[in-house]
Parts: sequence; C-alpha cells; structure tokens
Amino acid sequence: MSLRALRDELVEPRIPFARIPIVDGAPEAVARVLASGWVTSGPEVEEFERELAARVQAPFAIAVSSCTSAIELALRSLDLPPGAKVLCPTMTFAGVVHAITHAGLTPVLVDSDPHTLMPSADTVASAATKGADAMIVLHFAGNPAPVRELAAAAALPLTRIVEDAAHALGTRTGDRHVGADSAAACFSFYATKNLPIGEGGMVTTSDHALADFVRQGRLHGMSRDAWKRYAPGTPWRYDIVQPGLKANMTDIQAAIGRAQLRSLQRLLLPLAGVRERIRPAQVTRHGQHHPQRLFRHRDGVGPGSVHHRDAFVRRSLEINVVHAYARSSNDAQLLRMLQQLRVGLHRRPHDQRIRRLQMFIQLAIELICCKHGPARFLQLRHS
Ligand SMILES: Cc1ncc(COP(=O)(O)O)c(C=O)c1O
Repeated sequence: MSLRALRDELVEPRIPFARIPIVDGAPEAVARVLASGWVTSGPEVEEFERELAARVQAPFAIAVSSCTSAIELALRSLDLPPGAKVLCPTMTFAGVVHAITHAGLTPVLVDSDPHTLMPSADTVASAATKGADAMIVLHFAGNPAPVRELAAAAALPLTRIVEDAAHALGTRTGDRHVGADSAAACFSFYATKNLPIGEGGMVTTSDHALADFVRQGRLHGMSRDAWKRYAPGTPWRYDIVQPGLKANMTDIQAAIGRAQLRSLQRLLLPLAGVRERIRPAQVTRHGQHHPQRLFRHRDGVGPGSVHHRDAFVRRSLEINVVHAYARSSNDAQLLRMLQQLRVGLHRRPHDQRIRRLQMFIQLAIELICCKHGPARFLQLRHS
C-alpha cells in the first residue's frame, strides 16, 4: 500500500476511530474555566465528582487523569504485599496490565468466555487455583459482568475486587448502576468511551478510606491539593503522605465532563453510522458465535441490564486490530491486514512484553470485510 493510501485509510477509515460528540454547552464551559483564572484541579473537578457519584449512586467519586491511573491507584489502595497476584482478563487493554505491574503486583491472566468476551466463573476459578489476592473485573463493552459471582469463583471478598468500568458508564444490572459494588470501579473518559472528554478517568467507591487514598495518590501523595491550600483563610501547608502519582484531572476536562454528563443518555444512543456499516451475518459454521447471541446472553445477566450494542461492535473491531498486530510478524503484514479490515489502528501494543501478552490471548476475533464496505461476518474462534 502506498503511504498516501495508508494515510487515507487511517484518516478516513470505513470504521472511524471514534465519533466524538461534543454537546452544546461544553465549549462555553471550557471558555468559562479559561476565563476564571483556575485551570488545574479545582471547583469544576469537585462538581464533576459530585455529579458523577450521584449518577452511578456511589458515595464517593475521585477524578483522575485516566482509567489506567484509576486502576493503579485503586490497586495500590488495597495495600497488598509486593508481587501479590491480581487476576485480570486476557481480553483487555494493555494499560490494565501496566497498572497492575506499576502497582508492584503480578498479573494473572484469566481466559475469556467466547459468548460474553469476558471471564466466566469457570475460567476465574481455574485461574485462581494457585491463589489470587485481588481481581480486576471487566465490564466489556458496556456488558455488566456478574461481579459477585466472579468474586465468589475467585474466593475473594468484594473488597479485593476492582472493576474495570472503562466501557461501562451508564451500564446497569437491574436498578443497580456499575460503580459501587466492589472496592472501586474505574471509568474512562478517553475518546472512544461513553463519555469522551479528551482524556480522564474516575474512581467510584463506597469506601471512605479508599477515596482518601486515591484523592491523595492522584497528586503526588499530597495531603491537600492547591485548590484547598489557597482557598481564602486556609493554611497553605501540606504533607506528603504516600509516594503518589501525578494523575489529577484539570478543571478544563471536568467542565467538558459536566456538560457531556448532562447529555449522557444521548451520547449512548446507537451510533447509527457504525451500526449500518456492520451487519454481522448469522455465522454458525465451525462453532463461531453470532454477536446477537452475545447480546441475548448479556440480557440474561440480570433483569433490565443496560448495555451498549454499538460499543460492543466498536470494541470488537479494536480488539481485532490489536490481535492483527499481535499475530503479524512485521509492519507490512499489519498494514495489509488493516487494509483488508478497513479500520484505523489506534492501539498498538508498544513493546515486546505486551506483544507477548497479547499472544497469550486465547480468543481471537476475525472480522472479514466485504470488498465494498460493510463488514459481513464477525467470527470468534479459539486460537
Ligand atoms: C477495557 C479498558 N480498560 C482500561 C482502559 C484504559 O483507559 P484509559 O485510556 O482512560 O486509561 C481502556 C482504554 O482503552 C479499556 O478499553
């Protein structure tokens, strides 16, 4: 493929990298923050936290720079011994594995079920046979995972579960929102997520001490952030109480987040363009599973489950590309695959280590596109 053709493919792929709706009110909110003289973490972040906590019915929400840092901070808050084992799905984003290793812990990969694309109670139990100290439970593509069932399968209390809710803002099981079931739920506001704000993440929890730990850990371990230290009449002094990260959210991001959050339902509406282009066929040959079956399965997770079909399709495409990369031995081969898949590459495992991890993944998704556009088949198969 010529460089020009490749650029055209990546800049204007058939399946776009992301459709990022910015709602009315967001640009004005940013202008308001810029004019206010306070652009780092401050009152907008506090309001965004309050509003998101109310939305998912969690007592506390702490805004951070990404879901990856949210997971790392949540894991650190569990105070596990160095090298402790953390179960996490094979089918996940590389940042989750990084978060575990950066927290000084050991990732233990759990196979994913071909029906839900998430670990099942059986695969969790089998991965936990040699012991597990904590677990990341992923709600894949807005599909609510059975958190309690998986915790029981791993013989872990809910206080040792961190939910990867990167895809799950707006997801419910029955009348329960994802966000307050386990030690912590971690949301993402990355461009491809349900509430895009540029970059950002949020930890929600009902544990007061965990909330305090994350609040300090997101900003160098400081006992009080600048907004609190410089408020009129308050002392400027602070202490460093833990070796924290620099992972705070700015008021600019939070202002966008607040405006977007007010329109969350609209943002979650089906992305018609994507849906039209992807019409998975009824494929049953060789044990492949049709996505509709996945959706039915998800409906069975709990009465009134809310999930996001388009997020699923989009996520499947992303994973497909990551798999394509993991399987390819060189970039030319990857580019050919991309051309065939007609999607843009936006996640590229960036080092050998993660590449090897991707190779561990037991489930491969193959997307075969019809020559003139719409994807025709979505096939799952064990590799
Ligand atoms: C399942 C999952 N977990 C975590 C993350 C990390 O989110 P962030 O980019 O906000 O760090 C992603 C992002 O793509 C993801 O898909």
